[in-house]
Amino acid sequence: MLSSKIEETSKEFSKDILSVKNAEELEKLRIKYLSRNGILPALFDEFKSVPKEEKPAAGKALNLLRNEITQKYNELKDKLSAESKRSSSKVDLTLPGKKYPVGSKHILTQTLDEIKSIFKGMGFSVFEGPELESDYYNFEALNFPPDHPARDMQDTYFVSDDFLLRTHTSPVQIRIMEKMKPPVRAIMPGRVYRNEAISARSYCMFHQVEGLYVDTDVTFAELKGTLVSFAHQFYGKELKYRFRPSFFPFTEPSAEMDITCFICEGKGCKICKDSGWLEILGCGMVDPNVFDSVNYDSEKFTGYAFGMGIERIAMLKYGITDIRIFFDNDFRFLKQF
Ligand code: PHE
Repeated sequence: MLSSKIEETSKEFSKDILSVKNAEELEKLRIKYLSRNGILPALFDEFKSVPKEEKPAAGKALNLLRNEITQKYNELKDKLSAESKRSSSKVDLTLPGKKYPVGSKHILTQTLDEIKSIFKGMGFSVFEGPELESDYYNFEALNFPPDHPARDMQDTYFVSDDFLLRTHTSPVQIRIMEKMKPPVRAIMPGRVYRNEAISARSYCMFHQVEGLYVDTDVTFAELKGTLVSFAHQFYGKELKYRFRPSFFPFTEPSAEMDITCFICEGKGCKICKDSGWLEILGCGMVDPNVFDSVNYDSEKFTGYAFGMGIERIAMLKYGITDIRIFFDNDFRFLKQF
């Protein structure tokens, strides 16, 4: 009898569907009940030979069975496909995170940061200028006589007759004085280039920080006070220093500042050439000729300037004996800072 077959099929299907765990088993279920040779089409075939008076009831039961099977089949199909999507993009939140290596600032950048913060604390602003300079800014406006040896091809990388890679940061003094009226209180860090024989003590490229203070009544005593305060903040209170007379075309009088040798602590060694002292910077009172070239009234204003090599003062602070190591990108060196 068709009606009892319908009931049995319904029960069997309910049982079968419970054991379906994946797409493969679902497909087997579909073949068993819904495919062309499956149970459901066979029941519809049988329906054709059901006596007329039983047809309405049997037809209704058969339709119900078909709806039940297709609905449950579709529901399970949706559920399984959603599950497989979820598991393929499954994130395991309990796994330890990946560690990305974080770099650190180069020791020269750290040194410059420290220099900047010390001078900012004393009221200086920070300015930068171009590395490719004209002869005018690098030499002429800074009172270099036309035959000064620093213009010699030996020291300067000329790019053309008039342009060169700056040999110091002093040209930035000219650039900012052209733009600003006194008072000017600024430091100017940057790269400089010199065509020197490369050795433990000198490299063809290095960094300087220039300093400039122009106002009415600026004195040499203020210059010394500022630089000594800087050196104490940078190297520590115990530091011993001295100022030696020197010469620069753009300052008059000029001096160089030395600190006690970090290797021998003043007793004399190879690094300090037995003097016990190491030079850290050049400085002096701005030459009136420099004020003339930027149209500052040299009767009214005075000023001081200084320039220090960043590599040099870092070498003295950390006991580094070869300047080339800053530019080798050797991890074993860089990692120490
Ligand atoms: N520009 C000089 C140098 O490179 C240093 C310096 C700067 C000296 C400012 C005096 C004043 O050697």
